[in-house]
Amino acid sequence: MMKKTVVLILLSVLLMSAVSCRNQSSASSAADSTLSQNTTVQPSAESSAPADRAEQPSVNSQPKQESLHPSSQSAESSQTPESSAPASQPAESSQTSESSAPASQPAESNLASASSVSSSQSVESTSSNELQTTSEVSSMQQSFSETSTSTENSVSDIFLNIHTKVSSVSVSWNLIKNADGYIVECSSSADFPQEYTSERQTTENSLTFEQLQQNTTYFLRIRTYRTKNGERIYSGWSETYTAPLKTIEVIDGATYVDGVLIANKTYALPSYFGYGLTDETYQAYNAMVAAAAADGITLWMESGFRSYDTQSFTYQSFVWDRGVALADLCSARPGHSEHQTGLALDFNTTSDAFAYTPEAAWIEAHCAEFGFIIRYPQGKEEITGYKYEPWHVRYLGMEKAAEISASGLTLEEYYGITSIYQD
Ligand code: DAL
Ligand code: ZN
Repeated sequence: MMKKTVVLILLSVLLMSAVSCRNQSSASSAADSTLSQNTTVQPSAESSAPADRAEQPSVNSQPKQESLHPSSQSAESSQTPESSAPASQPAESSQTSESSAPASQPAESNLASASSVSSSQSVESTSSNELQTTSEVSSMQQSFSETSTSTENSVSDIFLNIHTKVSSVSVSWNLIKNADGYIVECSSSADFPQEYTSERQTTENSLTFEQLQQNTTYFLRIRTYRTKNGERIYSGWSETYTAPLKTIEVIDGATYVDGVLIANKTYALPSYFGYGLTDETYQAYNAMVAAAAADGITLWMESGFRSYDTQSFTYQSFVWDRGVALADLCSARPGHSEHQTGLALDFNTTSDAFAYTPEAAWIEAHCAEFGFIIRYPQGKEEITGYKYEPWHVRYLGMEKAAEISASGLTLEEYYGITSIYQD
């Protein structure tokens, strides 16, 4: 009996001690997991996480979901739920990374789809360098979907957006499911003698063909490919797109791009060129002044047409005052000024402080409505060759001014031309 009592007492002591250990173990496991995540996973953010988050079961499923995402597969996936990020963090960061990466989404789904193509599917394999004939291709073309059992790609759903400049063609297209990459051909012949061929991988959907022959019409087409067993399976070619480069021509010593007279550091005007503001420019100016007045803004013309000789004097004054380097940022050398075209003018005052006036803001907001653009915008000094001139506008006509203004590009960028002195 005595023995039994002793045994019973011993047993209860052991049990109580076990309960106490369990509580302790809970606390220390939280501490341990904090320690563990600090050493194996990271980071400062984790180390500042509250110690009690280990006891929040509600967060447990979040990191697991995240770990399925290829881009987030890391140490996290092997962590215990407790060692994962703080309660709100996993879900938010997961949402953010997914919703803020539209460009990479198709890439991943493309890759996934491409790699999920079963080897039991019927594949008419085409070697990577083998070109398919048009008839072979068209018979194989079909609409592509994720559930398609065909391994042939289709380009029937690709649409090319083409932007031409004087010596380049930029092309972009919509990404196609199941494609591992794209081949784009650009040629001056509709027979496509592989003059310019370029390819892009899965996620890339734009490219530019540069240093093309000026005043030439180019032709473009695109096809997709999948890679299977190390070989490429090509789709057929898309329809052929026509891409006439923007024209550049010299007429009586003056350069016109797409019919637009250009005067900048690269393109000069003959000394005899020009006689005053063109009628259209002057009418547009008057309309703009009237509209500004209706809005309570007073505009006037500080400088309009400037002849070659006047510009010589103006430029030389800058040189005397500031030296050649600074003068070249503010004033055009004779023959290079847009004022000599009769299509440009300066409003109100040519001082840097003008940028901060309501008049400058009004000009910027409304000049395109009257056919003008701000010719030397802020931040584009390297491209235009001149520092910001909020007062200097160039007449282009309403349609072109609206288009170029909306593009956010300078005239140089829009047409793909330079503004650099030769010497
Ligand atoms: N201020 C401009 C660049 C000109 O002199 O034509
Ligand atoms: Zn000017």
